[in-house]
Amino acid sequence: MKRKRIFVRSMTDLVYDRLAILSEPIRVRILRLLEREELAVGELARVVQAPQPTISRHLKQLDEGGWVIRRRAGTAAYFRLAELGSAASLWDLVRREIDASSAAESTIYAEDLRRLDGVLAARTSDSAELFRRLGGRWDNVRKELFGDGYVLPALLALLPADLVVADLGCGTGAMLPLLAPVARQEGIGVIGVDREAAMLDVARERAAGLANVDLREGLLDALPIASGTVDLALCELVLHHVRELTPVFSDVRRVLKQGGRWVILDMVEHDREEYRDTMGHQHLGFSRATIEALASSAGLQVRSWRVLPADPAALGPALFVAVVGR
Ligand SMILES: C[S@@+](CC[C@H](N)C(=O)[O-])C[C@H]1O[C@@H](n2cnc3c(N)ncnc32)[C@H](O)[C@@H]1O
Repeated sequence: MKRKRIFVRSMTDLVYDRLAILSEPIRVRILRLLEREELAVGELARVVQAPQPTISRHLKQLDEGGWVIRRRAGTAAYFRLAELGSAASLWDLVRREIDASSAAESTIYAEDLRRLDGVLAARTSDSAELFRRLGGRWDNVRKELFGDGYVLPALLALLPADLVVADLGCGTGAMLPLLAPVARQEGIGVIGVDREAAMLDVARERAAGLANVDLREGLLDALPIASGTVDLALCELVLHHVRELTPVFSDVRRVLKQGGRWVILDMVEHDREEYRDTMGHQHLGFSRATIEALASSAGLQVRSWRVLPADPAALGPALFVAVVGR
């Protein structure tokens, strides 16, 4: 049955084309199965108990007639029922007839459904088949099942155990629940410092129940932390608020252990002058050279510098992360 593509034919021809497609019972059975489930050629062959070349030939006709959609995943091809548009009512009519008749257990249509169950059950025990079939949709399935809040905590497991971490300018303490599980568990593992009591109040609520977190009111250039006790210091979006940075760099050096690291996350240099008035910024971001000069004047070194990928939804300037070492 060689037909021209339907979109060049008249409306009447189009209806005949569609009826011709539905005139073959095996094609109707295939459509009914593909309406329920996306299936590979081999799976369809097992369900309708026909040779694969036969199934492929019918699928080609269904594809040309706009009845099915083919999806490639590696070397395999999967098929499902297409959006039928004006043919939907025709298909509806046929399917209703079949559904009525498949209520009787003995019909070929009822057998199809039983074998489809068997084929689908075999799938779930074969994870390779599952992932081949899911292809790019795995990202959605993973998000549905697990969300994406676990990514950062999982990556933080890369940190060495038993670190003492200081979140300097911790604000409302958003980092504390992430840091507490991976920092030292005995005694104090995470120290949060901020000059604003109101911010610390919120941080305290957040850290309630985190036994290894200690929150302290204080300034970045006179840290309420003993010398040489911190493995990992963190300043997230803080330094642009501090006018005089030289004393901050030297006090962070004081509290770091030999070999300790300081992670600075802030904005790269930008020209948004209004931030000075609207948000009290003292610096319009930082260049690598500025951070390097401040570090070296305090006897520290910039070990790495990376501008982070921009979040498409973010309105602010680009961010960098610098790791400064003692
Ligand atoms: C923009 S908030 C960032 C808070 C937190 N790090 C975050 O990313 O959510 C800046 C914080 O730094 C604190 N801060 C600014 N200058 C400070 C200073 N000289 N000493 C201590 N804290 C300071 C502020 O009180 C504020 O809580």
